[in-house]
Amino acid sequence: MPAHSRRPVPQPVLSPLTSAAIFLVVTIDDGGEPVVRETLSDVTGLQRAVGFRASQEGRLSVVVGIGSDAWDRLFAGPRPAELHTFRELVGARHHAVSTPGDLLFHIRAARLDLCFALASEIMERLRGVVTTRDEVHGFKYFDVRDLLGFVDGTENPTGPAADAAVLIEDEDPPFSGGSYVIVQKYLHDLRAWNALPAEAQELVIGRRKLSDVELDDAVKPADSHVALTTIEDPDGTKHEIVRDNMPFGTVGEGEFGTYFIGYARTPAVTERMLERMFLGAPPASHDRILDFSTAVTGSLFHVPTGDFLDNLPGPPTACAAEETVGADETEAVATAVPPAGADGSLGIGELRT
Ligand code: HEM
Repeated sequence: MPAHSRRPVPQPVLSPLTSAAIFLVVTIDDGGEPVVRETLSDVTGLQRAVGFRASQEGRLSVVVGIGSDAWDRLFAGPRPAELHTFRELVGARHHAVSTPGDLLFHIRAARLDLCFALASEIMERLRGVVTTRDEVHGFKYFDVRDLLGFVDGTENPTGPAADAAVLIEDEDPPFSGGSYVIVQKYLHDLRAWNALPAEAQELVIGRRKLSDVELDDAVKPADSHVALTTIEDPDGTKHEIVRDNMPFGTVGEGEFGTYFIGYARTPAVTERMLERMFLGAPPASHDRILDFSTAVTGSLFHVPTGDFLDNLPGPPTACAAEETVGADETEAVATAVPPAGADGSLGIGELRT
């Protein structure tokens, strides 16, 4: 890289774990591409508008992911080398479904109101041009536990190891600084889970429930979650991802879940973990966590850099034609609306907090 060129700035993929999150997955309706492009370039501005009012402690951030089918509808030029739709996995007992998703908004903050305000601003722009496929409001549960009662996120890499695990480098130069993300919404059978004594639950996860200490290799079962999601080469090299899972639920409906989200420099690492979980790795037939948790969604997205969002590549030819038509329509609307202040007001409208 020449000395004068700076590295592209990633989106805040590695922002620290927060107390609240909203996961929003949408598909783009036919003809919605120009509005989506405009919204993508505005997302960081919207984050600043909502987040600045809450200062540093609000820690509001948003990461946008773009799905494989949507990519070609939105942009001309090169595609991220490893972008593809989520591959479903059908194991003997369990099934990782692949569900539609063109855009992912992963919104995190110290408070849910901030996530909610930003999600509302984003959807206000997108209303009428996208279909919401899934919306989950996640919360922090006690000391970073999931609803199975185990501390979740302990083995996430941190610092330079986290950068190396999630950020694309020279392997795909046009997308360096970007990342990939896989999301899956899991629903737990808490009745069955809670019927297990804690010691049996510890064998399912591979860690102690209270202390969070990993089980000794001598007692950790091959079909435990930790054993199957640890990916290590024969030479000891570990392949890691960064997770920011969140519990969610609706008590009245008896719905209790974990929203899995895993960022990685290549989707191949997360896919390898999923294969081991769902298809097994002898002698394990599948991950025991799946006997109590059902995946009801599954999607894969590329996470472009912040620079990419600030300077989107041109649209593909069909979309460019629509953007021109769209611009004419906007002009016509603009001339029909009286200019702000024509009624003697300041033209700032209703002040909403
Ligand atoms: C570890 C929960 C799904 C990848 C863990 C741990 C818990 C947990 C409690 C141990 C503490 C920790 O290191 O975080 C869950 C739940 C899931 C889920 C409740 C959904 C029902 C997944 C999926 C993947 C995954 C789908 C990957 C595709 C990992 C990895 C580790 C881990 C890489 C760390 C393994 C290690 O190096 O020790 N998970 N997980 N998890 N999980 Fe999950």
